[in-house]
Amino acid sequence: MRVLVVGQGAREHALCWKLKQSPLVHELYAAPGNAGIASVADCVQIGVADIVELADFAEKLKMDLTVVGPELPLTLGIVDEFQKRGLAIFGPTRLAAELEGSKVFSKDFMRKYDIPTAAAWTCNSVDEAKAALKQTKYPAVLKVDGLAAGKGVVIVESAREADEYLHMVFEEKKFGTAATRILVEEFLAGEEVSFIVVTDGKKALPLAPVKDYKKAFDGDTGPNTGGMGAHSPAVVLGASTAADIMSSVILPTLQGMEAEGRPYTGVLYAGLMLTANGPRVLEYNCRFGDPETQVQMLRLDDDLAEVCLRVARGNLGDLKALNFRKEAAACVVIAVDGYPDDFPKGQEVEFDPIADDSVVVFHAGVVKRGGKLVNQAGRVVSVCARAASLSEALAKVYEAAPKVRFEGARYRRDIGYRALEARKSGAWAVD
Ligand code: AMP
Ligand code: GLY
Repeated sequence: MRVLVVGQGAREHALCWKLKQSPLVHELYAAPGNAGIASVADCVQIGVADIVELADFAEKLKMDLTVVGPELPLTLGIVDEFQKRGLAIFGPTRLAAELEGSKVFSKDFMRKYDIPTAAAWTCNSVDEAKAALKQTKYPAVLKVDGLAAGKGVVIVESAREADEYLHMVFEEKKFGTAATRILVEEFLAGEEVSFIVVTDGKKALPLAPVKDYKKAFDGDTGPNTGGMGAHSPAVVLGASTAADIMSSVILPTLQGMEAEGRPYTGVLYAGLMLTANGPRVLEYNCRFGDPETQVQMLRLDDDLAEVCLRVARGNLGDLKALNFRKEAAACVVIAVDGYPDDFPKGQEVEFDPIADDSVVVFHAGVVKRGGKLVNQAGRVVSVCARAASLSEALAKVYEAAPKVRFEGARYRRDIGYRALEARKSGAWAVD
């Protein structure tokens, strides 16, 4: 099989790493890829938003399967473009990807199909937002409707903080057309968890449960980021909660999308808060998680190419579940100081050799320029490891992390520690 992966992050490096192990895959391409992906795939310099060019390339090479990483091409309709040309592609159509592309659409959808989520108000102006804020209490959550590269959500503690954000959105128009309307949402307390399935629109097979750490700094403090680390098992998510999420969130979402005439295939990612009243959806993503995928690919025992091809053909067939290694996997993201706000680009990145082959370093924003490896994004690498237990996987990751060196390298020192503590004390469920 000839396979193309669209994207350029550590998530896509992990997908390529896994696809490369498939006996079905004879040629692997990535667009545009990165320096790490170049060691397992041929990188083609086409941007992720250039969907017509990507389809031209896939058509010319008679690609048997295309797997899409990021949300942008999905919301732009890459799947529709490929399907129009009879090319097999893994991911939701443009209309289905609106579950991630528009927070207003997804909130209305959840209300219509009784999918548990936070109360929210759709607001088209500063005045409407202020009126909605009077009906909820602080902290409150403000979300721009469209895609905002993970920066469109803030938790505000006071009317003053809310005013600053509303000014930025409606007057400075910092998010452009992504923010012609916003949601004012009730704040939910609890533990956050990512529940991610592969689906053909009817059947949904969960990927390994994973806990993602979204805050920039230790102790879950600082601004939200794309994710600073992850581990699987999630520890926070037990089997009965997983079953509850499947029946109260995932299956009603698939049935609802079918009823809306937007049948959903590919990866469905529910970002959830486990509250005292049960799981509540914070958001949907229409794609694999980053860094969740890095640990999930380390644990996946099945052939990813086969699973994705079945989905692309619209039928998971007789597959009953995905299989995972009994081991644990962990990941720590090394970012450049300043991320998720302003950060320097072009810093030289050096890699000391790592002897342990259960440790894998997936490149995120690393490219080759003038014979040197340099960073081009805030999240630079994902250092990942697999081991018999979560504590061993974390120990391996933290031993390897200093071997990736660049100026301003920064990573959280506490990934997984709370999960290990909670497991000891029985505070969280154990999967
Ligand atoms: P979203 O893009 O909607 O998932 O929001 C980004 C992050 O903001 C989530 O991962 C949560 O950490 C946080 N968040 C979003 N909505 C809420 C909420 N209603 N209550 C508490 N935290 C939230
Ligand atoms: N790690 C969060 C995300 O992929 O959206």
